[in-house]
Amino acid sequence: MNISIIGTGYVGLVTGACFAKLGHSVICVDIDEARINDINKGIAPIYEDKLDDILKECTREGRLKATSDIRDAVENTAVSFISVGTPSGLLGYIDLKYIDEVSRDVGNILKDKNDYHVVVVKSTVVPGTTEHSVLPLLEKNSGKKAGDDFGVCMNPEFLREGTAVDDFMNPDRIIIGGIDKRSTDVIFDLYKDFKCPIIKTDPKTAEMIKYATNSFLVTKISFINEIGNICKQLGIDVFEVAKGLGMDSRISPKFLNAGIGFGGSCFPKDVNALVGKAKEVYYRPIVLNAALELNETQPLKLVELLERKTGSIKNENIIVLGLAFKPGTDDMREAPSIKVIQTLIKKGANVFVTDPKAVDEAKKLMGKHERLTYCRSARDAVKNGKYILIVTEWDEFRDEELYKGKVVIDGRRIDEARAADYYEGVCW
Ligand code: NAD
Ligand code: UGA
Repeated sequence: MNISIIGTGYVGLVTGACFAKLGHSVICVDIDEARINDINKGIAPIYEDKLDDILKECTREGRLKATSDIRDAVENTAVSFISVGTPSGLLGYIDLKYIDEVSRDVGNILKDKNDYHVVVVKSTVVPGTTEHSVLPLLEKNSGKKAGDDFGVCMNPEFLREGTAVDDFMNPDRIIIGGIDKRSTDVIFDLYKDFKCPIIKTDPKTAEMIKYATNSFLVTKISFINEIGNICKQLGIDVFEVAKGLGMDSRISPKFLNAGIGFGGSCFPKDVNALVGKAKEVYYRPIVLNAALELNETQPLKLVELLERKTGSIKNENIIVLGLAFKPGTDDMREAPSIKVIQTLIKKGANVFVTDPKAVDEAKKLMGKHERLTYCRSARDAVKNGKYILIVTEWDEFRDEELYKGKVVIDGRRIDEARAADYYEGVCW
């Protein structure tokens, strides 16, 4: 099938690359020229395992190309996935400006296109968006009727950064929320060889399945962190508790790693967006707000425990191991490291930070500060002092030599750090 992907960030690029790898012909559209040039050279503009190899193969074999020409892409394909960002806007509500802009553009192009075309919303959008925002914009700008002249589906994405290619290729389930049978059948056909259940539903249910999933995962993390915070006071190891808890098949062992909480481009923004949507219908979500509130302060437990051990940290050298919001990515969006570093600097500490992949991103985000030093490696970083905070669980930090003679407060359960002179975990 000929497919266009509009917005080639983590989701769009991985979706495009994987469909091309599966034999489809893919045109990736973006407004970022540097990104387009990279993709056409077979270089992934983001750090993501396996993506470079797929891009190299598919661009070389002519199954994938990138362009800024959205008209050419939509006219020459049968299906367009919209995968632009859906950031937090005012008061945490979802900001749909990129979705609206692309919907208008695609509508304008459909006006002049005779062949049946299916528009698929892959971005995470609050329930009702596809039917009450995207579809009307497509109709208004094309002068055509959804269902009769073109199709519309909502197809949420569940991939994780760092394992995005494997997650896309081997999903637990695929959700297709179509406005009618014809649109749904086209997208079903695209996914029919995937070895997982495929659920056909309506767009707003598909949208809600995505939010319910992220909200559940967030709640699970905040839940285990709360149990961890209590365990810490009672001298109980929360990881042993999680092991016993996770063996209950109704609970599962996944997403029970206690620590300094969740970050990333989606968990915080998506749960806030659902809270915002709930407010619109006069409902105040108690569980979701609590999960978010606990996560606000969880990273700062690292600093609190360090101060309890050392007294004032003013003018002390503190080493922060890890910047990315999780291992396997260079993504710094909403990373717990940001709060930790800002707090350390505010308290007058000299902060030495390192990360195997995210130093460049961190420099862009946090810039220069007289009390902040970016180090090339963990080995380099730990030379600068005695106090170490572990923020991201990279394999590169699983090295006892880094910790000998040091005082370590661990936010991510790196067992090798127990080789330190003094070791303490945030929840254990
Ligand atoms: P991203 O910010 O990495 O990428 C968005 C891309 O869209 C950028 O490259 C940007 O230049 C491009 N863009 C913006 N306006 C455009 C336009 N008018 N035309 C063409 N391109 C345009 O975003 P992302 O992380 O890939 O997320 C995209 C969506 O997928 C969001 O709704 C997000 O919530 C959802 N999602 C993300 C993940 C993830 O792991 N990152 C997982 C599942 C779902
Ligand atoms: C998450 C979801 O896992 C994906 O299914 C979803 O598609 C995606 O969000 C999205 O909608 O964008 P991602 O943000 O890439 O994926 O990363 P996760 O592996 O879920 O980790 C998110 C955060 O939770 C990280 O900061 C991680 O350190 C933290 N986490 C995760 C914990 O603190 N404990 C855990 O047990 C698991």
